Amino acid sequence: MKSELKVTVRNAVAGTDQDLGCLGIFVFQGERFEKADNWPFGKETLNLIRKILKRNDLAGKLYRETVVFPEHGSAPPMIILIGLGKRNEFTLEKFRGAAANAGKAAQSHREDKLILLLDPSYLQFDGPEVAGAAVEGVTLGLYKFSAFKTLDREEVRDLKSLTILVPERSRAKAVRTETAVAVKISRAVYLARDLISMPANELTPTVLAEKAQALTEKRDKLKVTILSAPEMKRLGMNALLGVASGSVQEPKFIIVSYLGGDEATAPLVFVGKALTFDSGGISLKPAEKMDEMKSDMAGGAAVLAAVSAASELGLPINVVALIPATENMPGGKACRPGDILRSMSGKTIEVINTDAEGRLILADALHYASRFEPAAIIDVATLTGACIVALGEQVTGMMGADGPLKEEIKRASEQTGEMVWELPLWENYHEQIKSEVADFKNSAGRPGGAITAAAFLSSFVGPYPWVHLDIAGPAWLTKGTAYHPKGASGVGVRLLVRFLRNRCRQ
Ligand code: BES
Ligand code: MN
Ligand code: ZN
Repeated sequence: MKSELKVTVRNAVAGTDQDLGCLGIFVFQGERFEKADNWPFGKETLNLIRKILKRNDLAGKLYRETVVFPEHGSAPPMIILIGLGKRNEFTLEKFRGAAANAGKAAQSHREDKLILLLDPSYLQFDGPEVAGAAVEGVTLGLYKFSAFKTLDREEVRDLKSLTILVPERSRAKAVRTETAVAVKISRAVYLARDLISMPANELTPTVLAEKAQALTEKRDKLKVTILSAPEMKRLGMNALLGVASGSVQEPKFIIVSYLGGDEATAPLVFVGKALTFDSGGISLKPAEKMDEMKSDMAGGAAVLAAVSAASELGLPINVVALIPATENMPGGKACRPGDILRSMSGKTIEVINTDAEGRLILADALHYASRFEPAAIIDVATLTGACIVALGEQVTGMMGADGPLKEEIKRASEQTGEMVWELPLWENYHEQIKSEVADFKNSAGRPGGAITAAAFLSSFVGPYPWVHLDIAGPAWLTKGTAYHPKGASGVGVRLLVRFLRNRCRQ
């Protein structure tokens, strides 16, 4: 991971904070600048900001940046005004994007220190909430995967520090706590993005298992167990092994548990699809964009990073991540269309299309989840192109039969800004995945492809509340968004952590 951004929270004290670095100020469209309490900069700085807003009524447009280099003595070296759009349309999600733009503007002007003045009273949000959003926005917006760059053409100098200035002394403690939480969550998103961005020759199932193992070194409540092929064979995980059979890379079944809660309480189980590469297998994919299939382990990365964050935050909860990891490759030993696999559950699957491999490895992982008698199961998977067709690139598809669990996910998604939309999972879809020669078939063709995939998964889930999240779209963004550079987004990490925090009321 790239160099760390140092985040600090300070109380604004009138007239004292001039030399903390480049100053970012958030402004609403069509509004004058409301001075924060204890305005920490001089009168001239305040007048300058007011003058800009008076002359340019568009400066407050959403994400608009106005950069000035004031000359007067007490001024910060650079001031960035960032538009928040109209006050009555303001959301925390827009604020994350605005904060990201402030961070990017500061960095591109080669500033290494950024101060953001946050006055929750005029931002109409809870102070800690706004500060957390600022940290996430700045950090996530500046992400870059540069592990394999030996030469930096632009000589990028990273932003080194972010100072959050808060006006009211009474809220500073809560702001500090939430800021520290946001730093940890952002690190978890970085972890997921790094893993997803790693090419398949560098990140094999074995390496992924080692990375999971390495996470446990400093944390005693985090445990990792790795099952290798012989153990999977003994357990009868033949659906997973069928997918792995075309590859020379050993599959790994990675189990990460964080037991931070009461011993007697049933754990939550997260299941994450981890195809370190999906070529399609014998049903080979076309060449175009096949390189992006290194990201087909984004579900596995998300659940790993979420459980890692839960342990970093010390949440009082029990949660287990199950990560079936393999490649899907063609080869002499590869599984063929028409083959029938006997899954760990005993149910048989006719392989219609070897490119519908995600549901095969998840079938065994979801069955394995029953061992934990879980309080709930959430699987996260880059499962279907059909989900992208249905909802577009930025939206996660949600399917499941458990109303309350779906409500919990919806609530978390509204809080984190990760868009989740439900697709139905009615009885008729289950008809479509029945096979003539086996219990199920792994593909029902194109119509309703995201849903028939979910219907397939549901057949392997025990009597536990379960929700399936199809992240095929947002896991890998072909176009960046406000605080997600293009490429690996780390979608699901913040959502799952928020879900866990909500359960803990934290
Ligand atoms: N990993 C893919 C789904 C995917 C496609 C993710 C594009 C991200 C971007 C999955 O394994 C797959 O190939 N699904 C097939 C299923 C079909 C053969 C029934 C699909 O969506 O085409
Ligand atoms: Mn596939
Ligand atoms: Zn796949």
